[in-house]
Amino acid sequence: MSERFYITTAIDYLNGLPHLGHAYEKVITDVIARSRRAMGESVFYLTGLDEHGQKVQQAAAAEGKEPQAYCDELSAVWRAAAGRLGLSNDDFIRTTESRHRQVVQAMLAKLYGEGRIYRSTYEGWYSTKEETFLTDKDRLPDGTFPAHYGEVTRLSETNYFFPLKPYQAWLIDAIETTGELRIYPEYRRNEVLGFLKNEVLEDLCISRPKARLSWGIPLPFDPDYVTYVWFDALTNYVSVPASLGDKAAAGPLNLPVRAEAPLLWPAVHVLGKDILKFHAVFWPIMLKASGLAVPRQILAHGWWQKDGEKLSKTTGNVVDPIAVIDEWGLDAFRYYVTRELDIGPDGNWTNAGFQARYQAELANGLGNLVNRSLKMLVSYRAGRVPAVSRDLEPDATRAAAAAVQAYREFGTQRALVETWELVTRANRFVEETAPFKLAKDPTQAARLDSVLYSLVEACRILAVLLYPVIPTTASRIYSQLGLSGAPDRFAEAAWGGLAEGHTVGTPEALFPRRDLAKG
Ligand code: ME8
Ligand code: MG
Repeated sequence: MSERFYITTAIDYLNGLPHLGHAYEKVITDVIARSRRAMGESVFYLTGLDEHGQKVQQAAAAEGKEPQAYCDELSAVWRAAAGRLGLSNDDFIRTTESRHRQVVQAMLAKLYGEGRIYRSTYEGWYSTKEETFLTDKDRLPDGTFPAHYGEVTRLSETNYFFPLKPYQAWLIDAIETTGELRIYPEYRRNEVLGFLKNEVLEDLCISRPKARLSWGIPLPFDPDYVTYVWFDALTNYVSVPASLGDKAAAGPLNLPVRAEAPLLWPAVHVLGKDILKFHAVFWPIMLKASGLAVPRQILAHGWWQKDGEKLSKTTGNVVDPIAVIDEWGLDAFRYYVTRELDIGPDGNWTNAGFQARYQAELANGLGNLVNRSLKMLVSYRAGRVPAVSRDLEPDATRAAAAAVQAYREFGTQRALVETWELVTRANRFVEETAPFKLAKDPTQAARLDSVLYSLVEACRILAVLLYPVIPTTASRIYSQLGLSGAPDRFAEAAWGGLAEGHTVGTPEALFPRRDLAKG
């Protein structure tokens, strides 16, 4: 088995419905997964749900349901949402599955067996909402704790702890010097390094007494406790490969290795900036202590707001991705979030901004180019492709190289910007060459052939470059060009793919223009 490009998303808390932030993360991860497949790599894309812990237990109780029944019902809604987002995920993990529980328990048993976990009584300030102990360092200048921690109470509890400090120097080195752990973008990497150099890592509490929180994975060495939800959740990235028998994941945990299992571990993790510390500090240390390789790469994306305000169910400041897809189409949504927000900075959704990009870039830009190119070929040449011409070849070659390079470097937004250079150039080429005039002059027949070839060939290459972001539209462009199969290989972006004499299909609007006044 050859090594796969293994990429994961954060697993979402199952305490509500998917919102814009969740959908964005899953889409950009899908864009990277599809772009890697297009480069010829074998990919494994994992997403899923974080179903244990206080938040989920409380959400189930609020609906008067048993947690497992609540999770079984709601997880079906999330799985369906993944389908509506057009995700090409290879698996979907739920942390309540036994394949996951077994791996969490194997990791805990190993760490405990090697004396890396100890039992102790701790007294301190505790945030129920965030399920975490707080220290004086967490206080604001006025002495109170930040509001997002909710009510903070004094708590004394006996628990199991995992010391992180022994790995601190190694982790700094792994990020700063050896390149073992890569964090993107650069400023997030520096943030993690700053944190690691300025604070001494405290021992991580990895248990919760069952008496206080029962909804979790029992500790393999003490049935009165369940596993801390973050220890449980992070392990999902390893539990899928380990349960398949991937030797890099299963081996160190003393789980069965299977010769035919895909070689997945280590992964590229995509996640939001708010949970970077869990992924760039706790998780690599958990892995190192368990004898597993650290993640191949961590990609930390920014946060979306709407109209300049935090997304919030309480205030109704929300974007329902499924409603947007119902109204505007899947690819309009995927295009907008990818084009608007690169992996790194924060973004701001406005309906006006969404509609403006739809109209200018999708309807009048790409859609118009494909539609008029095909229509002209149909009306002037009965849909028959002329001999290969090279007018737009340099532009297409440049756009393809730049877009593929951007995809390779996780520059998902840049890949679109580079691709749009070709959209804009080809639309300008129509204005410059005025094929409708050439068509009226029989002495210009050869020139018209040349223009038409360049236009339809540019459309074909655009389909290939855009497939990772807007796969449905890209496939529609291919089928309107009369081509079979999906435009899912970047190797197909080489000029001259359309053969002379090939007959295209029927042009149809890809992104119908909208009356924006009505929204
Ligand atoms: O944190 N904009 O789950 P979660 C962009 N279960 N991204 C956002 C966002 C926003 N407004 N709001 C949330 C958890 N996200 C844990 C993860 S992983 C082992 C466990 C992102 O449902 C957030 O940054 O609160 C995170 O990456 C993901 O959605 C899930 O958030
Ligand atoms: Mg969250």
